[in-house]
Amino acid sequence: MSSVLLRNIKTLVLGHPRRVAGAKMNELPTLDNAFLLLENGKIKDYGKQADAPDRADEIIDATGRFVLPAWCDSHTHLVFAGSREGEFADRISGLSYEEIAERGGGILNSARRLQQTSESALIDQALPRLAEVRGYGTGLIEIKSGYGLSLDAELKMLRVIQKLKAQTDLTIKATFLGAHTFPMEYRQNRRGYLDLIINKMLPQIADENLADYIDVFCEKVAFTPAETTEIVEAGARCGLQPKIHTNQFNSMGGIEASVAAGALSVDHLEVMTDAEIETLRNSSTIATLLPTAPFFLNDPFPPARKMLDAGLTVALATDFNPGSSPSGRMPFVLSLACIKMRMTPQEAVNAATINGAAALEEEENFGSITKGKSANILLTKPLSSLAYLPYAFGTNCVERVILGGK
Ligand code: NIG
Ligand code: FE
Repeated sequence: MSSVLLRNIKTLVLGHPRRVAGAKMNELPTLDNAFLLLENGKIKDYGKQADAPDRADEIIDATGRFVLPAWCDSHTHLVFAGSREGEFADRISGLSYEEIAERGGGILNSARRLQQTSESALIDQALPRLAEVRGYGTGLIEIKSGYGLSLDAELKMLRVIQKLKAQTDLTIKATFLGAHTFPMEYRQNRRGYLDLIINKMLPQIADENLADYIDVFCEKVAFTPAETTEIVEAGARCGLQPKIHTNQFNSMGGIEASVAAGALSVDHLEVMTDAEIETLRNSSTIATLLPTAPFFLNDPFPPARKMLDAGLTVALATDFNPGSSPSGRMPFVLSLACIKMRMTPQEAVNAATINGAAALEEEENFGSITKGKSANILLTKPLSSLAYLPYAFGTNCVERVILGGK
């Protein structure tokens, strides 16, 4: 038995035990002047400070502080080799992300580096990133492959993700993104790469149980909706549900293909038609927005307000990757959601916690302060109100992070 008692909490942000959509996302259940008891890695009890137990193995005084469920970052590419600030400079000089990709830079640049990097070196690079995002309050995280783009390198990436699980107290979900882009040698032979994914990569991944989900980058610079459908159908035969990159630059049928395939989430959505919002409204697919990517690429932001007003379930994630979002800092994602997408702080917190957990099928275990859920919480510095957190975009307001009660 090991217990931790947080006492004198200014405001305990309970959140919702299950996903929330539309207008309800603006409601955020809280309890002022509260205590929170964690026991054996789980949330045991909470209530008014006057009813707090007087004993625990560890007691933390949370006077003036907010306690929230730890962030659930449902979309990252946190395993990668090196960095791409050269392309960052090229974009400042006028090249676009898509032009860089056409020239064999971008994802292919990261793939070349990753192919030359050993499993242990990839782990050594990923661990400090995990420690950093933990410091900003993330407790549950999804990590994609997709910088391998060959059978060996995709398997290497997925094995690295599996090994990271044993070396961190963050909870990790793995997504196979072999269909991130076409390798150079397959640019004139798209069929050949689809066959490699479907006939070689997927069976081996299923065999070794290396992934929870399958992803495809459905875009003009990457895979068509028809190719996306073929790949995710093959993934489904291997037990992998899709989470799909789409509508980052173009609206070209990715939403329809994703919903038809029963996607758990569609991610990015910078470019959305009203008809596509309507398609999502009639589905259970979660709309995952990644505002640090359009921030970094200087692109338009997703029309979050329209999506919320239409009643969609919106999640927020970092997209942490070397090309379009070299940051895994969830509080900054919340700031951008509020500043650039006009989400309220309450909507942003729901999107970054319970709806992120839902986008990883972990509503039962994470994303809210609910008795029996995992003891994954963050404790802020003393704050005047909850809105201070997205407001003070350059300050790390997170003082302490407890995952699994530790
Ligand atoms: O989510 N859009 C596709 N994939 C990543 C970027 C990958 C890269 O540029 O390395 C994204 O933005
Ligand atoms: Fe991404």
